[in-house]
Amino acid sequence: MLSHAAKYIEETIGGKYSPKIALILGSGLGALAGEVENPIRIRYHEIPAFKQSSIDGHVGQLVIGKLEGKEVMIMQGRIHFYEGYSLKEVTFPIKVMKKLGIEKLIITNAAGAVNEAFEVGSLMLIKDHINLLGTNPLVGKNDSSLGVRFPDMSEVYNKNLYDYAKNCAQKLNIHINEGVYAANVGPSYETPAEIRMLRKIGADAVGMSTVPEAIVANYCGMKVLGISCITNYAAGIKEEKLSHQEVIEAGNSVKEKFSALVKEIIKGL
Ligand code: HPA
Repeated sequence: MLSHAAKYIEETIGGKYSPKIALILGSGLGALAGEVENPIRIRYHEIPAFKQSSIDGHVGQLVIGKLEGKEVMIMQGRIHFYEGYSLKEVTFPIKVMKKLGIEKLIITNAAGAVNEAFEVGSLMLIKDHINLLGTNPLVGKNDSSLGVRFPDMSEVYNKNLYDYAKNCAQKLNIHINEGVYAANVGPSYETPAEIRMLRKIGADAVGMSTVPEAIVANYCGMKVLGISCITNYAAGIKEEKLSHQEVIEAGNSVKEKFSALVKEIIKGL
């Protein structure tokens, strides 16, 4: 299946591009895909074994073209574990990217602030993660053409890319938080007690994505950079209730800052 999907994408691109950089755009952050020059767009449902997201704010297409003079492959929207897909299905596109020659992957998401010092509408560089999904995308038979059985996880988020991204933010005068992202299954948001627990175990932000893709990208030997958009305070921090609408709207409100940072990063990769 992997080779079918890779072949389909390769044939559709038709030799026009051979990107080494890929980007996954999370909830409400898809607008950047509209800035790609001379794009080739491929809907996920056209690609063998790719799944389509059922969630508002996730378009569900690959956009391949040039951004800031660099060839990129963008996933505009992703699928999630809580949609009922297996982690194998969720991370299938990452393996396809590897087959297509992607070396660096920028993973983005919308996340709730667990760290009370963070502001809604700010960005966080992901230093490390905590997998609370109760399972792992690498469970099952190992494909040794992609990676080893027991991959090291001591630097999932590449230190050089991280430092470089931090410099890019400084250059653009964008305040950037740094912290640990915890992935919950969802789709219900957390309870206030769960958020207190997350704070105690060292999480700064919480969401329902990114960790499976980061595990598989690291396993495949890609360099990973993770950026969270802080779209809300996690449960119990403020009086307000949480809603997906709020997450999408906050994503929209940071999209200019987010796009500026991602473009600055891509420019120098
Ligand atoms: N919790 C979990 N996932 C999220 C949140 C949250 O508060 N905000 C955006 N995604």
